[in-house]
Amino acid sequence: MNNQVSEENNQEVKSNFGLIPIMAEALGTLSLPTEKHLQYKSQLTEISISAPNEHRRRRDNINDLEHICNTKNQNLFKQYKILDDLKHTLIDYSLHYIKQTGFECNEVLITDAWLNRGGKDAILAPHTHNNSFISGTYYVNFDPDKHSCLRFFNDRMMPQFARSPIISLPSRKDIQTPFNLEEMIVKVPEGTILFWKSHLIHGFTEPNPSDNRLTVSFNVMPKTCSDGDIYSFSVQE
Ligand SMILES: [Fe+2]
Repeated sequence: MNNQVSEENNQEVKSNFGLIPIMAEALGTLSLPTEKHLQYKSQLTEISISAPNEHRRRRDNINDLEHICNTKNQNLFKQYKILDDLKHTLIDYSLHYIKQTGFECNEVLITDAWLNRGGKDAILAPHTHNNSFISGTYYVNFDPDKHSCLRFFNDRMMPQFARSPIISLPSRKDIQTPFNLEEMIVKVPEGTILFWKSHLIHGFTEPNPSDNRLTVSFNVMPKTCSDGDIYSFSVQE
């Protein structure tokens, strides 16, 4: 009897209890018009084939993942002026992302941009983009059913990314909430561009099932960063 009363009290307490997600991150998505996408895809495919060795970087010879124009003095849009139209689209929608999420900004710069070619079984370890405010990915040659989709990882569930000691508990597998979510897989079609805050952890940890996964990655900075009327600095390319 006492156990029953205790259980009823427990239920009452549970029904009076709520959880409110208190902070959110924004993932911007843009679907390019098909004609524009096919124009960019043709240009970028040619670059992926013909780029000279000094524009190419690989982390190792085992993981078939190659980056074109990815060292600190390179920028895909400086090296290949034929991509100016795509560059202006990325600038335009990066500003749109900032304004849509409720912030003031009049001008942004693409501080880094590079082309990624992922072969079969390629992986991209979870990482963030330092020295950048907004980052993004443009899916150039991509089939979400045949190539690895990008994953965003919950930094609160990844002690290796903590900047201070943290307390962790095992996650319950029978209850999924916004709070114990370990990762979110973003499945979008070719021709989509994603925008997100550069500190978010992302990558693809399942081996890429097919060859020639082609994407453009980019970093964006507001030209002027300020805290209202005080503490500001300007960024140059
Ligand atoms: Fe990245």
